[in-house]
Amino acid sequence: MKKQTLSIIPILLIAVFLYSFKKFIIDEKHANPINELDARIERKVDSVLALMDVNEKVGQLVQYSGKWNATGPSSSKGDQYKLDKLKKGEVGSMLNITSVATIRETQKIVMDHSRLKIPLVFAYDVIHGYKTIFPIPLGESASWDLDLIKKTASIAAKETAASGINWTFAPMIDVSRDARWGRIMEGAGEDPYLNSVIGVARIQGFQGDDLAQLNTIAACAKHFAGYGFAEAGRDYNTVNIGEYELHNTILPPFKAAAKAGVATFMNSFNEIDGIPSTGNKMLQRDVLKGDWGWNGLVVSDWGSIGEMEAHGYAIDKKHASEIALNAGSDMDMESYAYEAHLETLLTENKITMAQLDDAVKRVLRLKFELGLFDDPYKYCDEEREKNDVYTKEHLAIARDGAKKSIVLLKNETELLPLSKNIKSIAVIGPLADNKDAPLGNWRAKGTYNSAVSLLEGVKSTVGKNTKIYYEKGADLTIPTVKPGDNQFSHPLKFNDRDTSGISAAVEAAKKAEVVLLAIGEDAYQTGEGRSQTNIGFLGVQQQLLEAIYKVNKNIVIVLMNGRPMDISWASNHVPSILECWFLGSESGNAMADVLFGDYNPSGKLPVSFPHNVGQEPLYYNQKNTGRPYNLKHVTYSGYIDTPKTALYPFGFGLSYTTFEYKNLKLDKNDMPKNGNIKVSVEVSNIGTRDGEEVIQLYIRDLVGSLTRPVKELKGFKKTMIKAGETKTIHFIINAEMLQFYTVNKKWEVEPGDFNLWVGGDSNATLKASFMVTE
Ligand code: BGC
Repeated sequence: MKKQTLSIIPILLIAVFLYSFKKFIIDEKHANPINELDARIERKVDSVLALMDVNEKVGQLVQYSGKWNATGPSSSKGDQYKLDKLKKGEVGSMLNITSVATIRETQKIVMDHSRLKIPLVFAYDVIHGYKTIFPIPLGESASWDLDLIKKTASIAAKETAASGINWTFAPMIDVSRDARWGRIMEGAGEDPYLNSVIGVARIQGFQGDDLAQLNTIAACAKHFAGYGFAEAGRDYNTVNIGEYELHNTILPPFKAAAKAGVATFMNSFNEIDGIPSTGNKMLQRDVLKGDWGWNGLVVSDWGSIGEMEAHGYAIDKKHASEIALNAGSDMDMESYAYEAHLETLLTENKITMAQLDDAVKRVLRLKFELGLFDDPYKYCDEEREKNDVYTKEHLAIARDGAKKSIVLLKNETELLPLSKNIKSIAVIGPLADNKDAPLGNWRAKGTYNSAVSLLEGVKSTVGKNTKIYYEKGADLTIPTVKPGDNQFSHPLKFNDRDTSGISAAVEAAKKAEVVLLAIGEDAYQTGEGRSQTNIGFLGVQQQLLEAIYKVNKNIVIVLMNGRPMDISWASNHVPSILECWFLGSESGNAMADVLFGDYNPSGKLPVSFPHNVGQEPLYYNQKNTGRPYNLKHVTYSGYIDTPKTALYPFGFGLSYTTFEYKNLKLDKNDMPKNGNIKVSVEVSNIGTRDGEEVIQLYIRDLVGSLTRPVKELKGFKKTMIKAGETKTIHFIINAEMLQFYTVNKKWEVEPGDFNLWVGGDSNATLKASFMVTE
């Protein structure tokens, strides 16, 4: 007996130890991996920090680009300079190095030569896929399908990690309401709530449950903050918004990202009310790292520390470094400012060792979380690089994602879906057989000309008796570089003159039952630095459209673009319009799925489409103003030459079936501030095809301590409803949905009256009211 007890005690002790250790690990993980610090990692971070001298600390805050002119003005330093710094262990991260072989080689320089062998973390802009390209973010947001969005991000992460890279500069969660701004293509559009939930889905997809897994990478919430509000839609331009607008409209997606445990943030190029974000202490230290208690790493945008000089906010780069570090910018991307000045600033007491240590700890924490200290080469595996990218499985998901991102804007005569046995079809337009444009901008390692074109998709879908007439009609742009060399930074030259191909296109249109006209934008027409004041069909596309319309009215416009466009003429004349964005690798197949009815379109616009550019910025969740109505007077808040509403509103998208909304019910009509109300609505598919619908819930707070938007999206559900079926959809209204950043500078629910709408777009009319009491 005694013997037995003796042998059991150590086992029990071990078991108790293991249990509590495991519980400790699990609890630590289940709390937020970023916001709740992991004590084991913190101990390691501290132990490394204790070994570092000032140069090594500053070095961890330095990020270099691996190639020139990648996404910003070219670096002032050469390769030899960077090599020497790497050897000394005075670089924390590299961006734009993109193969296992080069990453291994670069990491090895640090491992072989530096004193402390602190591994580099490798970053890259993986915005909508690495090698397998998914729809551009704005397009994919039109799916309103969070599972899908998470899935495509997780595949992007898998391919990126398999290629040796550990950190993507995505998602962009800038609320963007101006079609002129080229970067509108990178986000989830005009609504704070939609940007929040889509941003979180992307973060979860990239980061998974555990950053140390081989198939996950660190995400980056960018650009903090206000970049999407650049005046006049001109990139990098000044932002003038008030404190309340900042908190109520711009910050919510970032707060959601921080809460979801995003590993990093990137600050933004713009100023807000006189303060460049890189130097904005209120944003970075007080809100992000203070109020939100977020412990991740803030990287500057490309050169944005140095750019505070041009802003007229810093005398020189030394002054800029002082401002940026004090404001909470941890890592210097390509400004070469921190490396030159932080040590001196420390000796001059312009920055403190505690600030420096805090920034360095944020870098080290990320590296520990990624598992780079355990094995600096852990993401360097040539086999995975070869086998885990661009797989059949990934392409199948790209096709699924692409078809779900398509929005049917118009289908007046029910021209769509087309029969696969249609006698003849003309496929026309500069984008019709374009295998490159669908990859869009920010295509990471997407291979030039690798997308399935519309023409290819049509050919592989129609029956063998269908006659296909293809004509380009016109070029959209005139090449400025060799085919395939086109990229991010090249200037675009539009074909404004050459109409020689239009007559052949007209002849093709004459012969065909239906014309599929693929027009829109060049792949590089949206993205960074691609602001425009004309958002119509550039080049000779409008001429092509009108020439074809003269001979054949059965036109389906297959629109490819990265921003809301002015398609008013087309919308007034052409029976069918399909918004196809830039859909990625499987573009043509996905378009054919929708055109020929294998998939019933379910996408809904994440941005309003204007009647013309003069309405921009245009968004549904605007304020009412004191003169909202047109009481047959001139003096109301509108235009004399154009409607004030959108041509196609936020949330809008048709289906090949029809949904009817009725019986909107609330379980009660008042609730205390911390209570809730159950909402139900019946949605019937009254057509003959099964289809998915995005059921959207909007509210309006009628009177507030600050004026409130006329409508705000607060929830949505995407669900399949079979032909003839009625589904009851439920929502719960709670305090979180009703609160806003009030005049008291706090997130509060204010008692009073609210309206609520449920419907298939932001013009929903099925309405109820309720009251919130103290
Ligand atoms: C962009 C960022 C991007 C960075 C690195 C900058 O020009 O604004 O969004 O992540 O370059 O490529």
